[in-house]
Amino acid sequence: MRRKMAAGNWKMNGLSAQLIELDSLGASHTAATSDIVICPPTTLIAPAVGRTENSPISIGGQDCHSAIKGAHTGDISAPMLADAGAAYVITGHSERRQDHHEGNDAIRAKTQSAWAAGLTAILCVGESKDQRDAAETLNVIAEQLAGSAPDDATADNLVIAYEPIWAIGTGLVPTPEQIGEVHNFIRATLKDRYGDQIASGVRLLYGGSVNAGNAATIFTIPNVDGALVGGASLKAVDFSQIISALEQSAT
Ligand code: PGA
Repeated sequence: MRRKMAAGNWKMNGLSAQLIELDSLGASHTAATSDIVICPPTTLIAPAVGRTENSPISIGGQDCHSAIKGAHTGDISAPMLADAGAAYVITGHSERRQDHHEGNDAIRAKTQSAWAAGLTAILCVGESKDQRDAAETLNVIAEQLAGSAPDDATADNLVIAYEPIWAIGTGLVPTPEQIGEVHNFIRATLKDRYGDQIASGVRLLYGGSVNAGNAATIFTIPNVDGALVGGASLKAVDFSQIISALEQSAT
């Protein structure tokens, strides 16, 4: 059985005052049966780790450089995230792929670096609206997985998040059939590449406009093991409902 996962991506949101949300979120889920992860902006990672010491919440970064150190102004390395107490890092988010022109090779190197530092990577893949309209979705996902997932994946070091670009922050969500098709495809692709045992342990998250209203339906879809949530992870009261829906879901 795969343990379910609810991951929150705060993106570039949150000053110190936002940390209070971690207190209420942790307090609402002391008996959590899923993995709860919050990826705050880098400035909040260390205080967030301190604040969640006795809570079920784990902390992650939103990106890392592929090198462990060096002359890379403004960047952060995977060992730095680990040193600050992070256990996870998001790699290949579409906002990084677009805004920072990160290609599959760069994302694979970042993911590799995350693993070397002992972090679990939440590797994101997803198609644009044009690609979906052109019936290219599965090809795009295949190419992103082949190019950005390193060879030495395990069930523990890799989580895949399927995030259609057109669903992120838009309120648009694919149909359950569309989500199911991609998640089944990802599972099958992982099986071909890594074998049954590893592939059946990797958690597959759906991301893109997940909220308290649609979460329960999304979590009934086979091969959806949780969610990567942006906007609705900023407030504990919203994210908490998503976590509860996940833990109550039967699949
Ligand atoms: P959203 O973002 O939930 O605000 O759509 C999801 C994400 O980008 O991870």
